[in-house]
Amino acid sequence: MYTLGIETSCDETAAAVVEDGVKVLSNVVASQVDYHRKFGGVVPEIASRKHLEYIIPVIREALSQAQIELADISLIAVTAGPGLVGSLLVGVCTAKAMAYARKIPLVAANHIEGHIYGLVADGQVLPYPSVALVVSGGHTCLYLLPQPGEYRLLGQTRDDAVGEAYDKVGKVLGLSYPGGPVIDRLAASGNPEAIPFPRPYLSKDSLDFSYSGLKTAVWYYIKQKVAPPGEEDSADIDTKGANPKVPAPGQGRAIPIPKNQLADIAASFQEAAIEVLVHKTLLAAKRNNVCTVILAGGVAANRRLKEKMTVDAQATGVEVLYPRPGLCTDNAAMIACAGYARYRRGNVADLSLNAASSWPL
Ligand code: KG4
Ligand code: ZN
Repeated sequence: MYTLGIETSCDETAAAVVEDGVKVLSNVVASQVDYHRKFGGVVPEIASRKHLEYIIPVIREALSQAQIELADISLIAVTAGPGLVGSLLVGVCTAKAMAYARKIPLVAANHIEGHIYGLVADGQVLPYPSVALVVSGGHTCLYLLPQPGEYRLLGQTRDDAVGEAYDKVGKVLGLSYPGGPVIDRLAASGNPEAIPFPRPYLSKDSLDFSYSGLKTAVWYYIKQKVAPPGEEDSADIDTKGANPKVPAPGQGRAIPIPKNQLADIAASFQEAAIEVLVHKTLLAAKRNNVCTVILAGGVAANRRLKEKMTVDAQATGVEVLYPRPGLCTDNAAMIACAGYARYRRGNVADLSLNAASSWPL
């Protein structure tokens, strides 16, 4: 049974064909990142327009790479939320039109659940019970997975998502958008102990996260310690988007950062961000007597996160699973797998399906 997955929740237009909910036959992702880069983040209006332009060619390409026809598709799984509503609508309307015209069953996939099913798309088996850490540009959540289809939220960010913090720090460091993968690479040559950025633990036993203070701490460090003398207090003139210099979070005056300091700042920021993710995830596993942890979402592609989580987990006998990087970031194979599982649990959507910018798992 072939499932066509469609994903348009943010700035990637994606379609995939998955056989029997587990075997990925094609996984096509058209990134719009070049269009958003000069704005330093996703511009929702541009994202919707680009999805409209890409969606049909991307679906055609997914069918062609899987060497099947639309007539062979038995299920359409589409991301219906959470995400940018204008972006989601392009996928949802396309899926509904195809389902109606070809009389194909339709299922609404949840984007966060999709990230967790990235593991399935990678050929791995979702373990139960387990704890899942979903870390992306829009989410930082910890879930307990007692059994298939059941998700208990254990903690989430109270402000910025960790991927958002990566991207904003990337902007402050003058790196190209998205900052996450660039900081990951840059940090490898830096000293993670160079700058003692605050670890945002909130209260000691809380499983919630907070990344906005860490992001601001990086900005103040640059302003006070890196800015040339006399420029420390003049941080309010906008620079024009992507640049080798630094706009403040929000906006601000450019501050050039010497190359030798860049890697240390990146590594120190990353260490602070990741230490908290690892600590809280393993605390959640311990509290719930769970011996398997799943990493999902774009930030799960981060090398230091995978390394530290695996090493620290080993010490407590916990196993860590994550998909390969291409299945951590947004894609439609994970949506097809999650949608198929929902369908098998008896979930179907009708033509009244709408996009939901917020859809708690
Ligand atoms: O899951 P995703 O593709 O989209 C959302 O659902 O948000 O995640 C994108 C986020 C971006 O913030 C990006 O900077 C971050 O994931 N990211 C990374 C890495 N690769 C992607 N962050 C840190 N290290 C990486 N290697
Ligand atoms: Zn995502």
